[in-house]
Parts: sequence; C-alpha cells; structure tokens
Amino acid sequence: MSQKLAGVKGMADVLPASAGGDAETWQFMERQAREVMRRFGYGEVRTPVVEDTALFVRGVGEETDIVGKEMYTFTDKGDRSLSLRPEGTAPAVRAYVEHAVLNKEPVTRWFYWAPMFRYERMKTGRYRQFWQVGAEALGVQEPAQDAEVIHLALEILRALGLSGVRLELSSIGDEQCRPAYQEKLVAYFQGYREKLCAECQVRLERNPLRILDCKNEGCREIARGAPVLLDHLCAPCREHFDEVKRLLEVVKAPYTINPRIVRGLDYYTRTAFELIADDPALGTASAVGGGGRYDKLVKSLGGPDVPAVGFAMGLERLKLLLHGAGRTFTSAPDLFVASVDGNSFDAAFAIAGKLRQDGLWVELDTRGGSLKSQMKRADKSGARFALVMGEREVAEQAGELKPLRGGEPRRVSFDELPAILRAP
Ligand code: HAM
Repeated sequence: MSQKLAGVKGMADVLPASAGGDAETWQFMERQAREVMRRFGYGEVRTPVVEDTALFVRGVGEETDIVGKEMYTFTDKGDRSLSLRPEGTAPAVRAYVEHAVLNKEPVTRWFYWAPMFRYERMKTGRYRQFWQVGAEALGVQEPAQDAEVIHLALEILRALGLSGVRLELSSIGDEQCRPAYQEKLVAYFQGYREKLCAECQVRLERNPLRILDCKNEGCREIARGAPVLLDHLCAPCREHFDEVKRLLEVVKAPYTINPRIVRGLDYYTRTAFELIADDPALGTASAVGGGGRYDKLVKSLGGPDVPAVGFAMGLERLKLLLHGAGRTFTSAPDLFVASVDGNSFDAAFAIAGKLRQDGLWVELDTRGGSLKSQMKRADKSGARFALVMGEREVAEQAGELKPLRGGEPRRVSFDELPAILRAP
C-alpha cells in the first residue's frame, strides 16, 4: 500500500455531522453573519487567497509577528513573491484602491467570510488556516462609523447566541499624539534595555510600540509598567474616543476600557478594540475578534486619503464557544423513500426526484438492497418519515407514510405529500 497522505498541520477539514464533523455549525454561523451584514447594508467582497507579499509588508507592517514570522510566502513560477493572506483588511483595501471605488461611492461598506493563513504555534483556538468574518467601512472619519462597525460585530455575536463575549475598547492615538507618546515609551524602555529580548532591543530603535506586543515573558513584565497611549491622547483623538463611547451607549452596547490593548498589526489609528471571551473552551486564545480604525492605510497602499475602520472575528473560536455552550447543529431529511424490491426502485427514484424538485430533502438508497437494509439506513438518516414504494403504491399513487421519530403511520396520496412534509 502506498503511504497515507495527511492534511497540512493546523489546517482542518470540515465534514458534515453524518461523518462526525461540524459543517452544520459552520453553516449556522455563516447564515447568521450574512443576515446581520445584510441588515447593516454591508456588501460582500471576495479577494484572492494569495497576494503580492509587498501588500502585507507595507500594509500590516514588517515588524509585526504576522508579517515577520507567520506568513506563508513563496515564489511563483514567474519569480514573484506571493503570500497566502494572513488577514483580510490589506486585501480589501488593495481591491478598493485598484477598482477606484471612491469614484463610485463616497462611503464603502464591505464584509468578507474567508480563510486566512498564519504559520503560528498551534494550540486550542490557534490554527494555521483559520476563517474570519470581517467588515471594513471606508470613507468615513466620523466616530459614528466606529460605533456602527463595533455594533455590527456585537450583533453577529448576539445572532449566534453568544452572550459571554466582552468588548474591550481603547484608543491608540494618531500621528499628532503618537510621536510624543513614543518618546515617553522609548525613554521608559531605555531604562530596561538590557533586560529586553534581542528582538525588542531592535524594536526600540525601529518600532517601539511593537515591544508592547512581544510574547516574551520578561518583556511583557516590563511592558506592564510602560506608559499607556490612552493617557496621552491629543484633544481631537480624545473627542473622537469620547464620541465612540457615547454612541455605543446610544445602542446599548456595553464595553470596558482597556488602555493596554495592543493590536498585532501596525495600521491602526485612534479606536482599537477586542472581543474577549474568558471561556475554558478557548484555552488561552481568548480574543474572538479585534479591529479598529486605520485612517492611513488606504493612502499608504497607493490610494487616496480615505479614513476607514473595521474588524474581524475568528470563526473557529466562535465555533468553540458554541460547542462549549453545548450548542449542536444537525439537520435531517424530510423523507426517506425505500422500495420493496428491485422492480419498484424506479418508482421510488421517480417520487424522490419529484419531491426534491419541489424543494424537499429526500433520501433514498441508490444501492437498492433489501428493504431491511434500506429501513436501517432510513433510521440512521434521522429522516422524519419513511415511505415504502411497491407495486400497489405505484398503482394507487398513495402509500403509508411512516413517522420515524414516534407516531402512527397514515395513508397519504402522493399529491398531498409535499404539503404534509412541509408542515412542521
Ligand atoms: P486580528 O486580531 O489579527 O485582526 O485577527 C482577528 C481575529 O482572528 C482574532 O481575534 C482571532 O479571533 C482570529 N485569529 C487570529 N489568528 C488566528 C489563528 N491563528 N487561529 C484562529 N483564529 C485566529 C485582523 O486580522 C484584522 N484584519 C482585523 C481588522 C479588520 N481590523 C480592521 N479591520
């Protein structure tokens, strides 16, 4: 026998419940998320899974773990450096600029439901291919847009029935207030220079804010005493932040202020937020989502000076929360059609086909086989009813409809079948 092939580590298959998987949970999440996106008027953007590597280097930031350590980068046959997308914002902005969307509409609101790729160390809730649902609103500088985007994320959680997720909010300032803060930060870390890891010593020169995101325990301990940006906001950033908070209160969205939020991507300005669930189902991967404002990204990717704000949530983590809460999603056929013998198979096949055209979920055993084995399969399918086709049923165009989950069989004419099967 040839050697068995396995899927790539950290990248999961999704199988239907009948095969032991949880595809139905995924479908539920996708249905709910799409419905909430519709209510808020966000249109779907689909971008390719691979992009020019430079998009992420410039967009997300060379100094970030995502770009510096976690990207799946390769050279294609035309000698171009391409990367599997580690996130969805830079690609959405790339598409926005490339299609000159600003010339078509002043305000653009997009969502995506897509796989992302990061070469991370795996543990519960952390994978190498993972799915995000995200939204990006471009063209609005007003704080109402931040509040709308945050409300949208919270509404998705509500539609999923996940009430244990907390919104943590902060502001990380803009180019007005950040330089002065950065100086204070550098002065603070200089005092601990020798104790910082080698990488952070480089960051101290190149991108000191990133020290706050270092995973090294020693650096984290030092960072805990560092000054926070929220205390050093300029007046316009402070006003913006206050207005975001006020509007969240208008839509009754509870939040907690966490001045220590450090996003793992460089493009943020002003509002930054995370959605946190302290749930054992997530292990240490407690962030189910994150986002914020990125007013400089569009321009830095070669577009016009367009402000923007958005978020993304990790769907595997939301799924873990659903399963942790005991929510399971299964679905089952409306009807299983069996045939008494080979002569009646065509009749069973015909009626199944007809009912399927009518929109009903109907199963039959395409292997034929004995009635006993077909009925075994009917039971296993979880179907609501079974119908056995024989010569008599064909002649009378009627048959015995057998409920498989309790109840009495009853004789029905085939004309009435669709209505009966559709009734709850
Ligand atoms: P992010 O915080 O890097 O933000 O990712 C958002 C969410 O994706 C995380 O909160 C987490 O739930 C999930 N996630 C991240 N990495 C993994 C992983 N390895 N395995 C499983 N889930 C993961 C962004 O990606 C930004 N693009 C969000 C954004 C949109 N900001 C503005 N617009």
